[in-house]
Amino acid sequence: MYNVAIVGATGNVGRKFLEILEERNFPIKNLYLFASKRSAGLELSFKGNKYFVEETSEENIKNKKIDFALFSAGGDVSLKFSPIFSSYGAVVIDNSSAFRMDKNVPLVVPEVNPEDIKLHNGIIANPNCSTIQAMIPLKALMDNYGIKRIVYSTYQAVSGAGVQGISDLEDGLNGKPPKKFPYPIAGNCLPQIDVFLENGYTKEEIKMIEETKKILHNNNLKITATTVRVPVLNSHSESINVELEKPFELSDIFDLFNNTNGITLYDDINNLKYPTPLMASGKDGVFIGRVRRDFSIDNGLNLWVVADNIRKGAALNAVQIAELLIGSDM
Ligand code: A2P
Repeated sequence: MYNVAIVGATGNVGRKFLEILEERNFPIKNLYLFASKRSAGLELSFKGNKYFVEETSEENIKNKKIDFALFSAGGDVSLKFSPIFSSYGAVVIDNSSAFRMDKNVPLVVPEVNPEDIKLHNGIIANPNCSTIQAMIPLKALMDNYGIKRIVYSTYQAVSGAGVQGISDLEDGLNGKPPKKFPYPIAGNCLPQIDVFLENGYTKEEIKMIEETKKILHNNNLKITATTVRVPVLNSHSESINVELEKPFELSDIFDLFNNTNGITLYDDINNLKYPTPLMASGKDGVFIGRVRRDFSIDNGLNLWVVADNIRKGAALNAVQIAELLIGSDM
């Protein structure tokens, strides 16, 4: 049994951590909930019991003998408190982008690169939500056919922007102006997720590109991305265009996806079956449909990939990493 802390427990992902730890019956001895000073004293429930939220501070961390600290409170909180938690013996599983590209921090999707957890020095990074769901089909394709180039186009839900992202959609539907996004999200699409960088890409796009190379251990992959916020409450959708190295039969790709752990193939266009954000919400799998050849290039393939960005894209992936650590004796 383990002592588990959640940092950012009052947020979208924090609350989902609680739900998933309960669903999966994670072996918890003591549970500690942390958030900002504003939430100290707030009550949250877990397995029918009430837990009080504490302010995230070294004083509140140091005597608790925490084994796992699941973080989702933004990059600044991760940068400040992850080293403190790990100095008191915890393994931090961090949902922010603060450590993802750090060479000393493994970036892990358990179905894809579980072996990387062995390299941790007290912190393991959970990839970006839009990266996680793409990795599972791409790893299967890379292992079997090789990959030359990837073109990502995403349709990302407002829940990925936290509690304020959801409020902006709800308020917008009632005619109120946005607080989180630069333009109304209700009835709109915003081709900006995170800040713009000097090269004209957004930080989210560069995260997808760099994280993909790190997780697939392949720096030579050619990748481009356009990430878009859409007025969907939950679950990210992605169009992924892949140029494979070897020729393929479409029927073999269907077989491959049917036999890949973590993928639910939902592709039957004759019966109008393809995944949507509404159907993927609340579920654990990565749903794939619209699998078809890209006739414009040799060995081209198009996929439509949908997953719950708060579950597999965040909280579930982090809990799976903790389960892997338990299985590997940390
Ligand atoms: P709080 O509710 O006290 O502000 P989301 O991304 O869904 O909006 O959630 C963000 C999470 O990060 C919340 O739990 C929030 O707590 C927490 N958080 C924000 N700022 C801090 C901080 N300075 N220290 C600790 N937790 C923080």
